[in-house]
Amino acid sequence: MKKEMEKIVALCKRRGFIFQSSEIYGGLQGFWDYGPLGVELKRNVREAWWSDMITTHNELVAPEGAPKPFSMTGVETTIIMHPSVWKSSGHFDLFHDFMVDSKESKARFRVDHVSVAVAYAADKTPIACETYMADIGEEGLSKTKRKRLEKTIAEYEKEHGLDASETPQITVCNLMEYRKKMADANIPTTGKLEARCPETGGELTEPREFNLMFKTIIGALAGEEGTAFLRPETAQGMFVNFKNVVDSGRVKVPFGIAQIGKSFRNEITPRNYIFRSREFEQMEMEFFCHPDESFEWYQYWRDRRYAWYIKHGIAKENLILRDHTQEELAHYSVGTADVEYAFPFMEEDEYGELEGIAHRGDFDLRSHMEGKLVREGDQLVVEKNEHGQPKYKGSGKDLTYFDDQTRERFIPHVIEPAAGADRATLAFLCEAYYEDEQPDEKGNMQTRTVMRFHPRLAPVKVAVFPLIKKAGMPEIASSIYQRLKSAGIQAVYDQQGAIGRRYRRQDEIGTPFCLTVDGETEQDNCVTLRDRDTLEQVRIPIDDVVTEIHKRIYG
Ligand code: GAP
Repeated sequence: MKKEMEKIVALCKRRGFIFQSSEIYGGLQGFWDYGPLGVELKRNVREAWWSDMITTHNELVAPEGAPKPFSMTGVETTIIMHPSVWKSSGHFDLFHDFMVDSKESKARFRVDHVSVAVAYAADKTPIACETYMADIGEEGLSKTKRKRLEKTIAEYEKEHGLDASETPQITVCNLMEYRKKMADANIPTTGKLEARCPETGGELTEPREFNLMFKTIIGALAGEEGTAFLRPETAQGMFVNFKNVVDSGRVKVPFGIAQIGKSFRNEITPRNYIFRSREFEQMEMEFFCHPDESFEWYQYWRDRRYAWYIKHGIAKENLILRDHTQEELAHYSVGTADVEYAFPFMEEDEYGELEGIAHRGDFDLRSHMEGKLVREGDQLVVEKNEHGQPKYKGSGKDLTYFDDQTRERFIPHVIEPAAGADRATLAFLCEAYYEDEQPDEKGNMQTRTVMRFHPRLAPVKVAVFPLIKKAGMPEIASSIYQRLKSAGIQAVYDQQGAIGRRYRRQDEIGTPFCLTVDGETEQDNCVTLRDRDTLEQVRIPIDDVVTEIHKRIYG
């Protein structure tokens, strides 16, 4: 079934998963709120991650596939950090996108989201272009625009006495690449070769750099001295605390520090619902290991993080683990792989990033010791200013690690699985959405919308119903509901409307189990347990309800 994003978005609003931030004032682009069910779902996503990384991690035994046992620990660091952190890390200078404005409408676009289709004549001269304010890739050119370009090619070739091209050449690239290509070939981009806003036909400005970090001011000081930034990633909070964590005696290399928290990026074009927003939450882990073992650990985390999504209900055919090409790698990274999901808003065969697993070498700890690093040949060296001094000084603190068994001192290498809590939540929402045909009370087939969340992630685990509102059934049902709540199981009680309708309401929010008290309950002390996916109904004793539900959720 091809899932439709509009239906998923509508359900999320209707049933209270996700709302636009500040909606009554018209909303704020790139900001989203989680409603009563969304907050539970996202909490469960975070909890599943934290449980896997920290709570259930056993440091005495190597998990399957791991080279050896290791420790894991958590931290919670601040959103606003010392401004020098971002200078050493490179974010102050490098964390930017290129953007263009449409001169008429003042709309702003990321350059890599502006595509230009260029038509070449048989003699390889570029003769016309079409612009898209979207990243369309090679395949996304519309029939109409292709026809228009082909017509221009044919006219040009006729006019210049060229043999008509058999397969007219049209290539697609982003605006920046387009302008560079034309400039390199000394071809002016005017007239038919001018990339223009397709909506207004207006001119586009030159691409400009735009730092994605949100600025704020600390204390009463305006101006540079008081300027600070909202963190664009949680990772730096772990790097700057590496020494504190080691010194507080909790861990020995290899070990990981995990953190969940808000990050902020002033994205030029936030889009695709909560996929790319300006305020979002990350679940990041920095794993510190010996340089000689780093590749083994990289492989381990890459595979383990992919498996985590499958374990929580993402179908294998919708999830890929994609290794970055050499060109894609960040200047400090020795290897990166992305876990990517086939979101319904993507083209066929296109995937969106859920998480990146990066081998970052010693880049981070060295940057915070020595200052901002840049690549020179195959070396990372401290960037110098015009006086030959470090452009930004690091902390000057010793962030090396001393292994008291091998008597070796070294800078640990870092493997970083960096996931987005909101993107994971969106993937779980999209994956869960299904429509099937089920008979109603009269036996007529009806379309049922069902969210097939993994029981661990489902915002409500169990609904309790009295079959009818009398004969003592509401009293028994409400006491079962209270038992479940006291056991910490997220339950709801519902006695409104026909039983079939009550099931549908729970299916639509993904409640995996429903318990119904009926006329026989008083005699046999049992209730009917209905499974959302198999629709199987079994009788279970009231006294077993809590253990049975617990078993079905957590195994
Ligand atoms: N410390 C490395 C780091 O931050 P990243 O790939 O920029 O790496 C990691 O971010 C994850 O954070 C992404 O895979 C994505 O899930 C999430 N993320 C990044 N930018 C986001 C945005 N604007 N909106 C929602 N999630 C985002």
